[in-house]
Amino acid sequence: MILSHLLHLEGIESIVVESRSREWVEARVRAGVLEQGPVDLLNATGLGERMRREGLVHEGISLHFNGLQRRIDFRELTGRAITVYGQQEVVKDVIQARLGAGGQIVFEAEDVSVDDPASATPKIRFRLDGEPREIACDLIGGCDGFHGICRPSIPEGVLTIYEREYPFGWLGILAESKPPSHELIYANHERGFALASMRAPRISRLYLQCAVDEPLENWPDERVWDELHTRLSAGGPVELEVGRVLQKSVTPMRSFVAYPMQYANLFLAGDAAHIVPPTGAKGMNLAIADVHLLSRAMARFFKNGSRELLDKYSDACSWRVWRAQHFSWWMTSMLHRFWGEFAAFDFKRQLAELEYVSGSPFASRALAENYSGFPLE
Ligand code: PHB
Repeated sequence: MILSHLLHLEGIESIVVESRSREWVEARVRAGVLEQGPVDLLNATGLGERMRREGLVHEGISLHFNGLQRRIDFRELTGRAITVYGQQEVVKDVIQARLGAGGQIVFEAEDVSVDDPASATPKIRFRLDGEPREIACDLIGGCDGFHGICRPSIPEGVLTIYEREYPFGWLGILAESKPPSHELIYANHERGFALASMRAPRISRLYLQCAVDEPLENWPDERVWDELHTRLSAGGPVELEVGRVLQKSVTPMRSFVAYPMQYANLFLAGDAAHIVPPTGAKGMNLAIADVHLLSRAMARFFKNGSRELLDKYSDACSWRVWRAQHFSWWMTSMLHRFWGEFAAFDFKRQLAELEYVSGSPFASRALAENYSGFPLE
């Protein structure tokens, strides 16, 4: 959606093909943290009006562990801040902007396929209300997520996959409850990781490390609140307001990179090309950084026929993709319990790392720089 908006600002026509309904994409609870760079981009391109009113600007986060509550001050360490604003709010804003500008979004497209991405006019085929449709394209942006159809439509042997899975997931809940702190709390407790985030002054977004295949029946609301309270108090007692649970789900944790992010006239962006575990809050930011570069490369192509930026797209994205991969893996490894043979050693090692990263101005700055994000090119 953002790619389509950025192309529109360059005078380039596009059609967004979405398999879900507008209601579905606008309601789906996803990530919630925007770095300064993406915030600046949304503002500069006319998408920031509601975000400026409703987004919550945070100047740091807290790490709770081993009886300590330590704050990492992003503003002081980097001069930057983050904005807590749900991904589905960004989605609502950009859909409204596209439709308001006469943009075309096809919702509820069925049986979508990408045909012949190596030809000069690759096609997107789908059915709408049962009728077959076909779009002949110059270029295709594959922005359809990890489970989308674009990456699998690239011939075998083109992509190299770099991947690792984690032996746990996150149980996420959205609740009518005042957030326990005005900023995010990341807690490492001997029972496992917990995170307190938010969506609005009285809506909390909370997470617990859980088993990958955890049935939701194992987590009645009362157990969720007890466990959150225990784990978030790893650094000392935290007051947690128990409220109505609005939504509950389990997310697996994975690191994944497909390279290159291009095959001929098909370009992958966001989760279609890479996945990070959510501990570093990088998913939405990486997707925005990708389409920022992709829109520029596409605009150059349409202005003077040059494929130079298109062919450099993968490598232009790579630095940020791997920086986020490392940071997200590192935050995940520092904050989650890894059960098994070395669990006791690993826990002590994590506490030492957390103490260092929150106690040393040198180490804190590295966390703050990565979390608050590197400026967009
Ligand atoms: C969220 O608010 O959904 C959120 C915040 C920080 C994270 C992950 C998710 O690291």
